[in-house]
Amino acid sequence: MSAAAGNPLDLRAWLDEARRLGELREVEGADWNLELGTISELNVKKANPPALLFDRIAGYPAGHRVLTCSTSSPARLASILRIGPEQDHHALVQKLRGQPAQWQVRAAQFEPVVVGRGPVFEHESSGDDVDLFAFPSPLWHEGDGGRYIGTGCMVVTRDYDSDWINVGTYRVMIHDRNHVGLDMIPGKHGAIQYRKHMAAGSSFPVCIVLGADPLGYLVSGIEVPFGMCEYDYMGAILNEPVAVVKGALTGLPFPAASEIVLEGWAQPGDERTEGPFGEFHGYYPGKAATAPAVKIERIYHRNDPIMIGSPPAKPPNDYSYSKAVMRSALLFDALAAAGVPDVAAVWAHEIGGARMFNVVAIKQRYAGHARQAGHILNQCGVGAYMSRYSVVVDEDIDPSNLHEVMWAVATRTDPAIDIDIIRRGMGSKNDPMSIAYPYAAPLSSKAIIDACRPYDYLAEFPAVAEASKDLQAKVRAKWKDLL
Ligand SMILES: Cc1cc2nc3c(=O)[nH]c(=O)nc-3n(C[C@H](O)[C@H](O)[C@H](O)COP(=O)(O)O)c2cc1C
Repeated sequence: MSAAAGNPLDLRAWLDEARRLGELREVEGADWNLELGTISELNVKKANPPALLFDRIAGYPAGHRVLTCSTSSPARLASILRIGPEQDHHALVQKLRGQPAQWQVRAAQFEPVVVGRGPVFEHESSGDDVDLFAFPSPLWHEGDGGRYIGTGCMVVTRDYDSDWINVGTYRVMIHDRNHVGLDMIPGKHGAIQYRKHMAAGSSFPVCIVLGADPLGYLVSGIEVPFGMCEYDYMGAILNEPVAVVKGALTGLPFPAASEIVLEGWAQPGDERTEGPFGEFHGYYPGKAATAPAVKIERIYHRNDPIMIGSPPAKPPNDYSYSKAVMRSALLFDALAAAGVPDVAAVWAHEIGGARMFNVVAIKQRYAGHARQAGHILNQCGVGAYMSRYSVVVDEDIDPSNLHEVMWAVATRTDPAIDIDIIRRGMGSKNDPMSIAYPYAAPLSSKAIIDACRPYDYLAEFPAVAEASKDLQAKVRAKWKDLL
């Protein structure tokens, strides 16, 4: 870690920016017990939902706040990713194209800097004073297994046999006043580090950051390469290193302006029932399972701390918009890298958790172009896992508009020849349909729907019966109040 000044990932600086953009709504008096979660869920299903900052939460002191829907609009996502003002999601996808690859390459130049103090140390509690119920963690949904204190969080862990620090977004459920359950799916980097500690019979150090600049949880929730520290990746996006302080017990680094940090250890053999909790595709898994329990031995927090909440649920959910934008940019890049020309736009729909229902719009250039685009969209590296339906449309269709996409499917396909099925493709045990599948391994079938006008009849295909784009724009401008 180097020694220049850095960015402490201050959530409050970002909230000022969100206020300035008119993207923040403050809400007083909601109950943590199901009400806050339901308000957030209904909010995120509106067109252009604001971020919500809850204060005066029932049973908690004024100032103990929860922020939800932080990444659910193009303007907020653009500001979090530092890519300039943006109101339109296709423009946002275009701006993001190529960026993740660049951030990865530049990450090594932005190791975090360790600073002596930070606002996160304004309050400290340890030992018997540790009380996780001091913060207004929501019970998000009726079917949840408990109160989830960590959803929009950053879980900081260290490798067993190297200096690699990983920061991942994993859900965190409260067991009691000083224990939480940490659900890390096998294969996730935090889970790999945890398994190594357990195999060696060693306790596993953990710091959980419950609020910071939303860039923190956004990057922690995406697949950063194995062995790379997410703080470096954030530094590449910020163009300056993250400023961190270290936990007194574990020595783990966390952003100097973190709102709340829980510090503790998971011990070998201490796994407890955790969940159930919703998944990104909108379903609960079949039953609760066990997960590592972390004993929290110290809590650091700022005055009037703010937690970020971002629960998975039936989409659109709190973070599905950010996933749709990020994966659309990655799919666009993958299509271009595979040599598919004239891609107009790509959209990884929120309803499919940005995995299961993806659409590409192309300007057809040659016979077979549409099938080529559809199969690559479905099978490329970033698209294959849990892909279900991949749809190809002509460039007059907005791939992010389900009405337009399904109109093309309804009117430009001959189902007998325009749906290709891939059998035994890459699936997941996490697929809600896996219960009905005949496979022993996580496989599934996939459909590629070619909803482009048939290439061999392009010239004769009936014209669309609607006002031209020019005429629509003119009439909209003149009849602004009405339309
Ligand atoms: C809001 C949110 C909640 C998530 N919850 C979990 C979770 O509970 N368990 C998990 O393994 N992954 C979860 N993920 C996905 C991981 O954060 C993601 O796969 C990330 O790449 C994990 O970090 P890693 O690659 O360093 O392991 C969640 C993602 C988001 C955005």
